[in-house]
Amino acid sequence: MAELKERLQRLLTEEKRDKRHLISLLQEIQQEFSYLPREVMLEIAWFLGVSPSTVYSVTTFFNQFRFTPVGKHPIRICLGTACHLAGGKLVLETVERELDIKVGGVTADGQFGLERVACIGCCALAPVMTINGDVYSRLTPLKMEEVLTLLKSGGESERK
Ligand code: FES
Repeated sequence: MAELKERLQRLLTEEKRDKRHLISLLQEIQQEFSYLPREVMLEIAWFLGVSPSTVYSVTTFFNQFRFTPVGKHPIRICLGTACHLAGGKLVLETVERELDIKVGGVTADGQFGLERVACIGCCALAPVMTINGDVYSRLTPLKMEEVLTLLKSGGESERK
């Protein structure tokens, strides 16, 4: 908790103490923590002089905000139309089975988080996903297993 407060204090600077900065502060904090911890949202409400329900309303209105950690290696599987038609669901099921987690979950060791997203703008390379922000394309269940095996062993996977 002390470390969390320390990291938060670095972001809550006096020039941002205005409710106009609520969304940008939430974005910065999510970038720092990978999600919005409950304690942090309460701290922002206090810092900006708004009610906790105001902060909560904003965070639930925009689907960019997350309330659970995404893991050290966030995996985002695209299930937009092109990726869905190209077998994205099979790729997703492979990840769920290999990591024993469901969408929105994080592995017990905190290494991997799994999210489902809609179109990341690489439809011609479907099905695609991102891991740590890197795009992986033309995925198959077998290719997915190989990528996960490499990442689990601490190796860097070659993107294709
Ligand atoms: S639908 Fe997956 S990248 Fe567009």
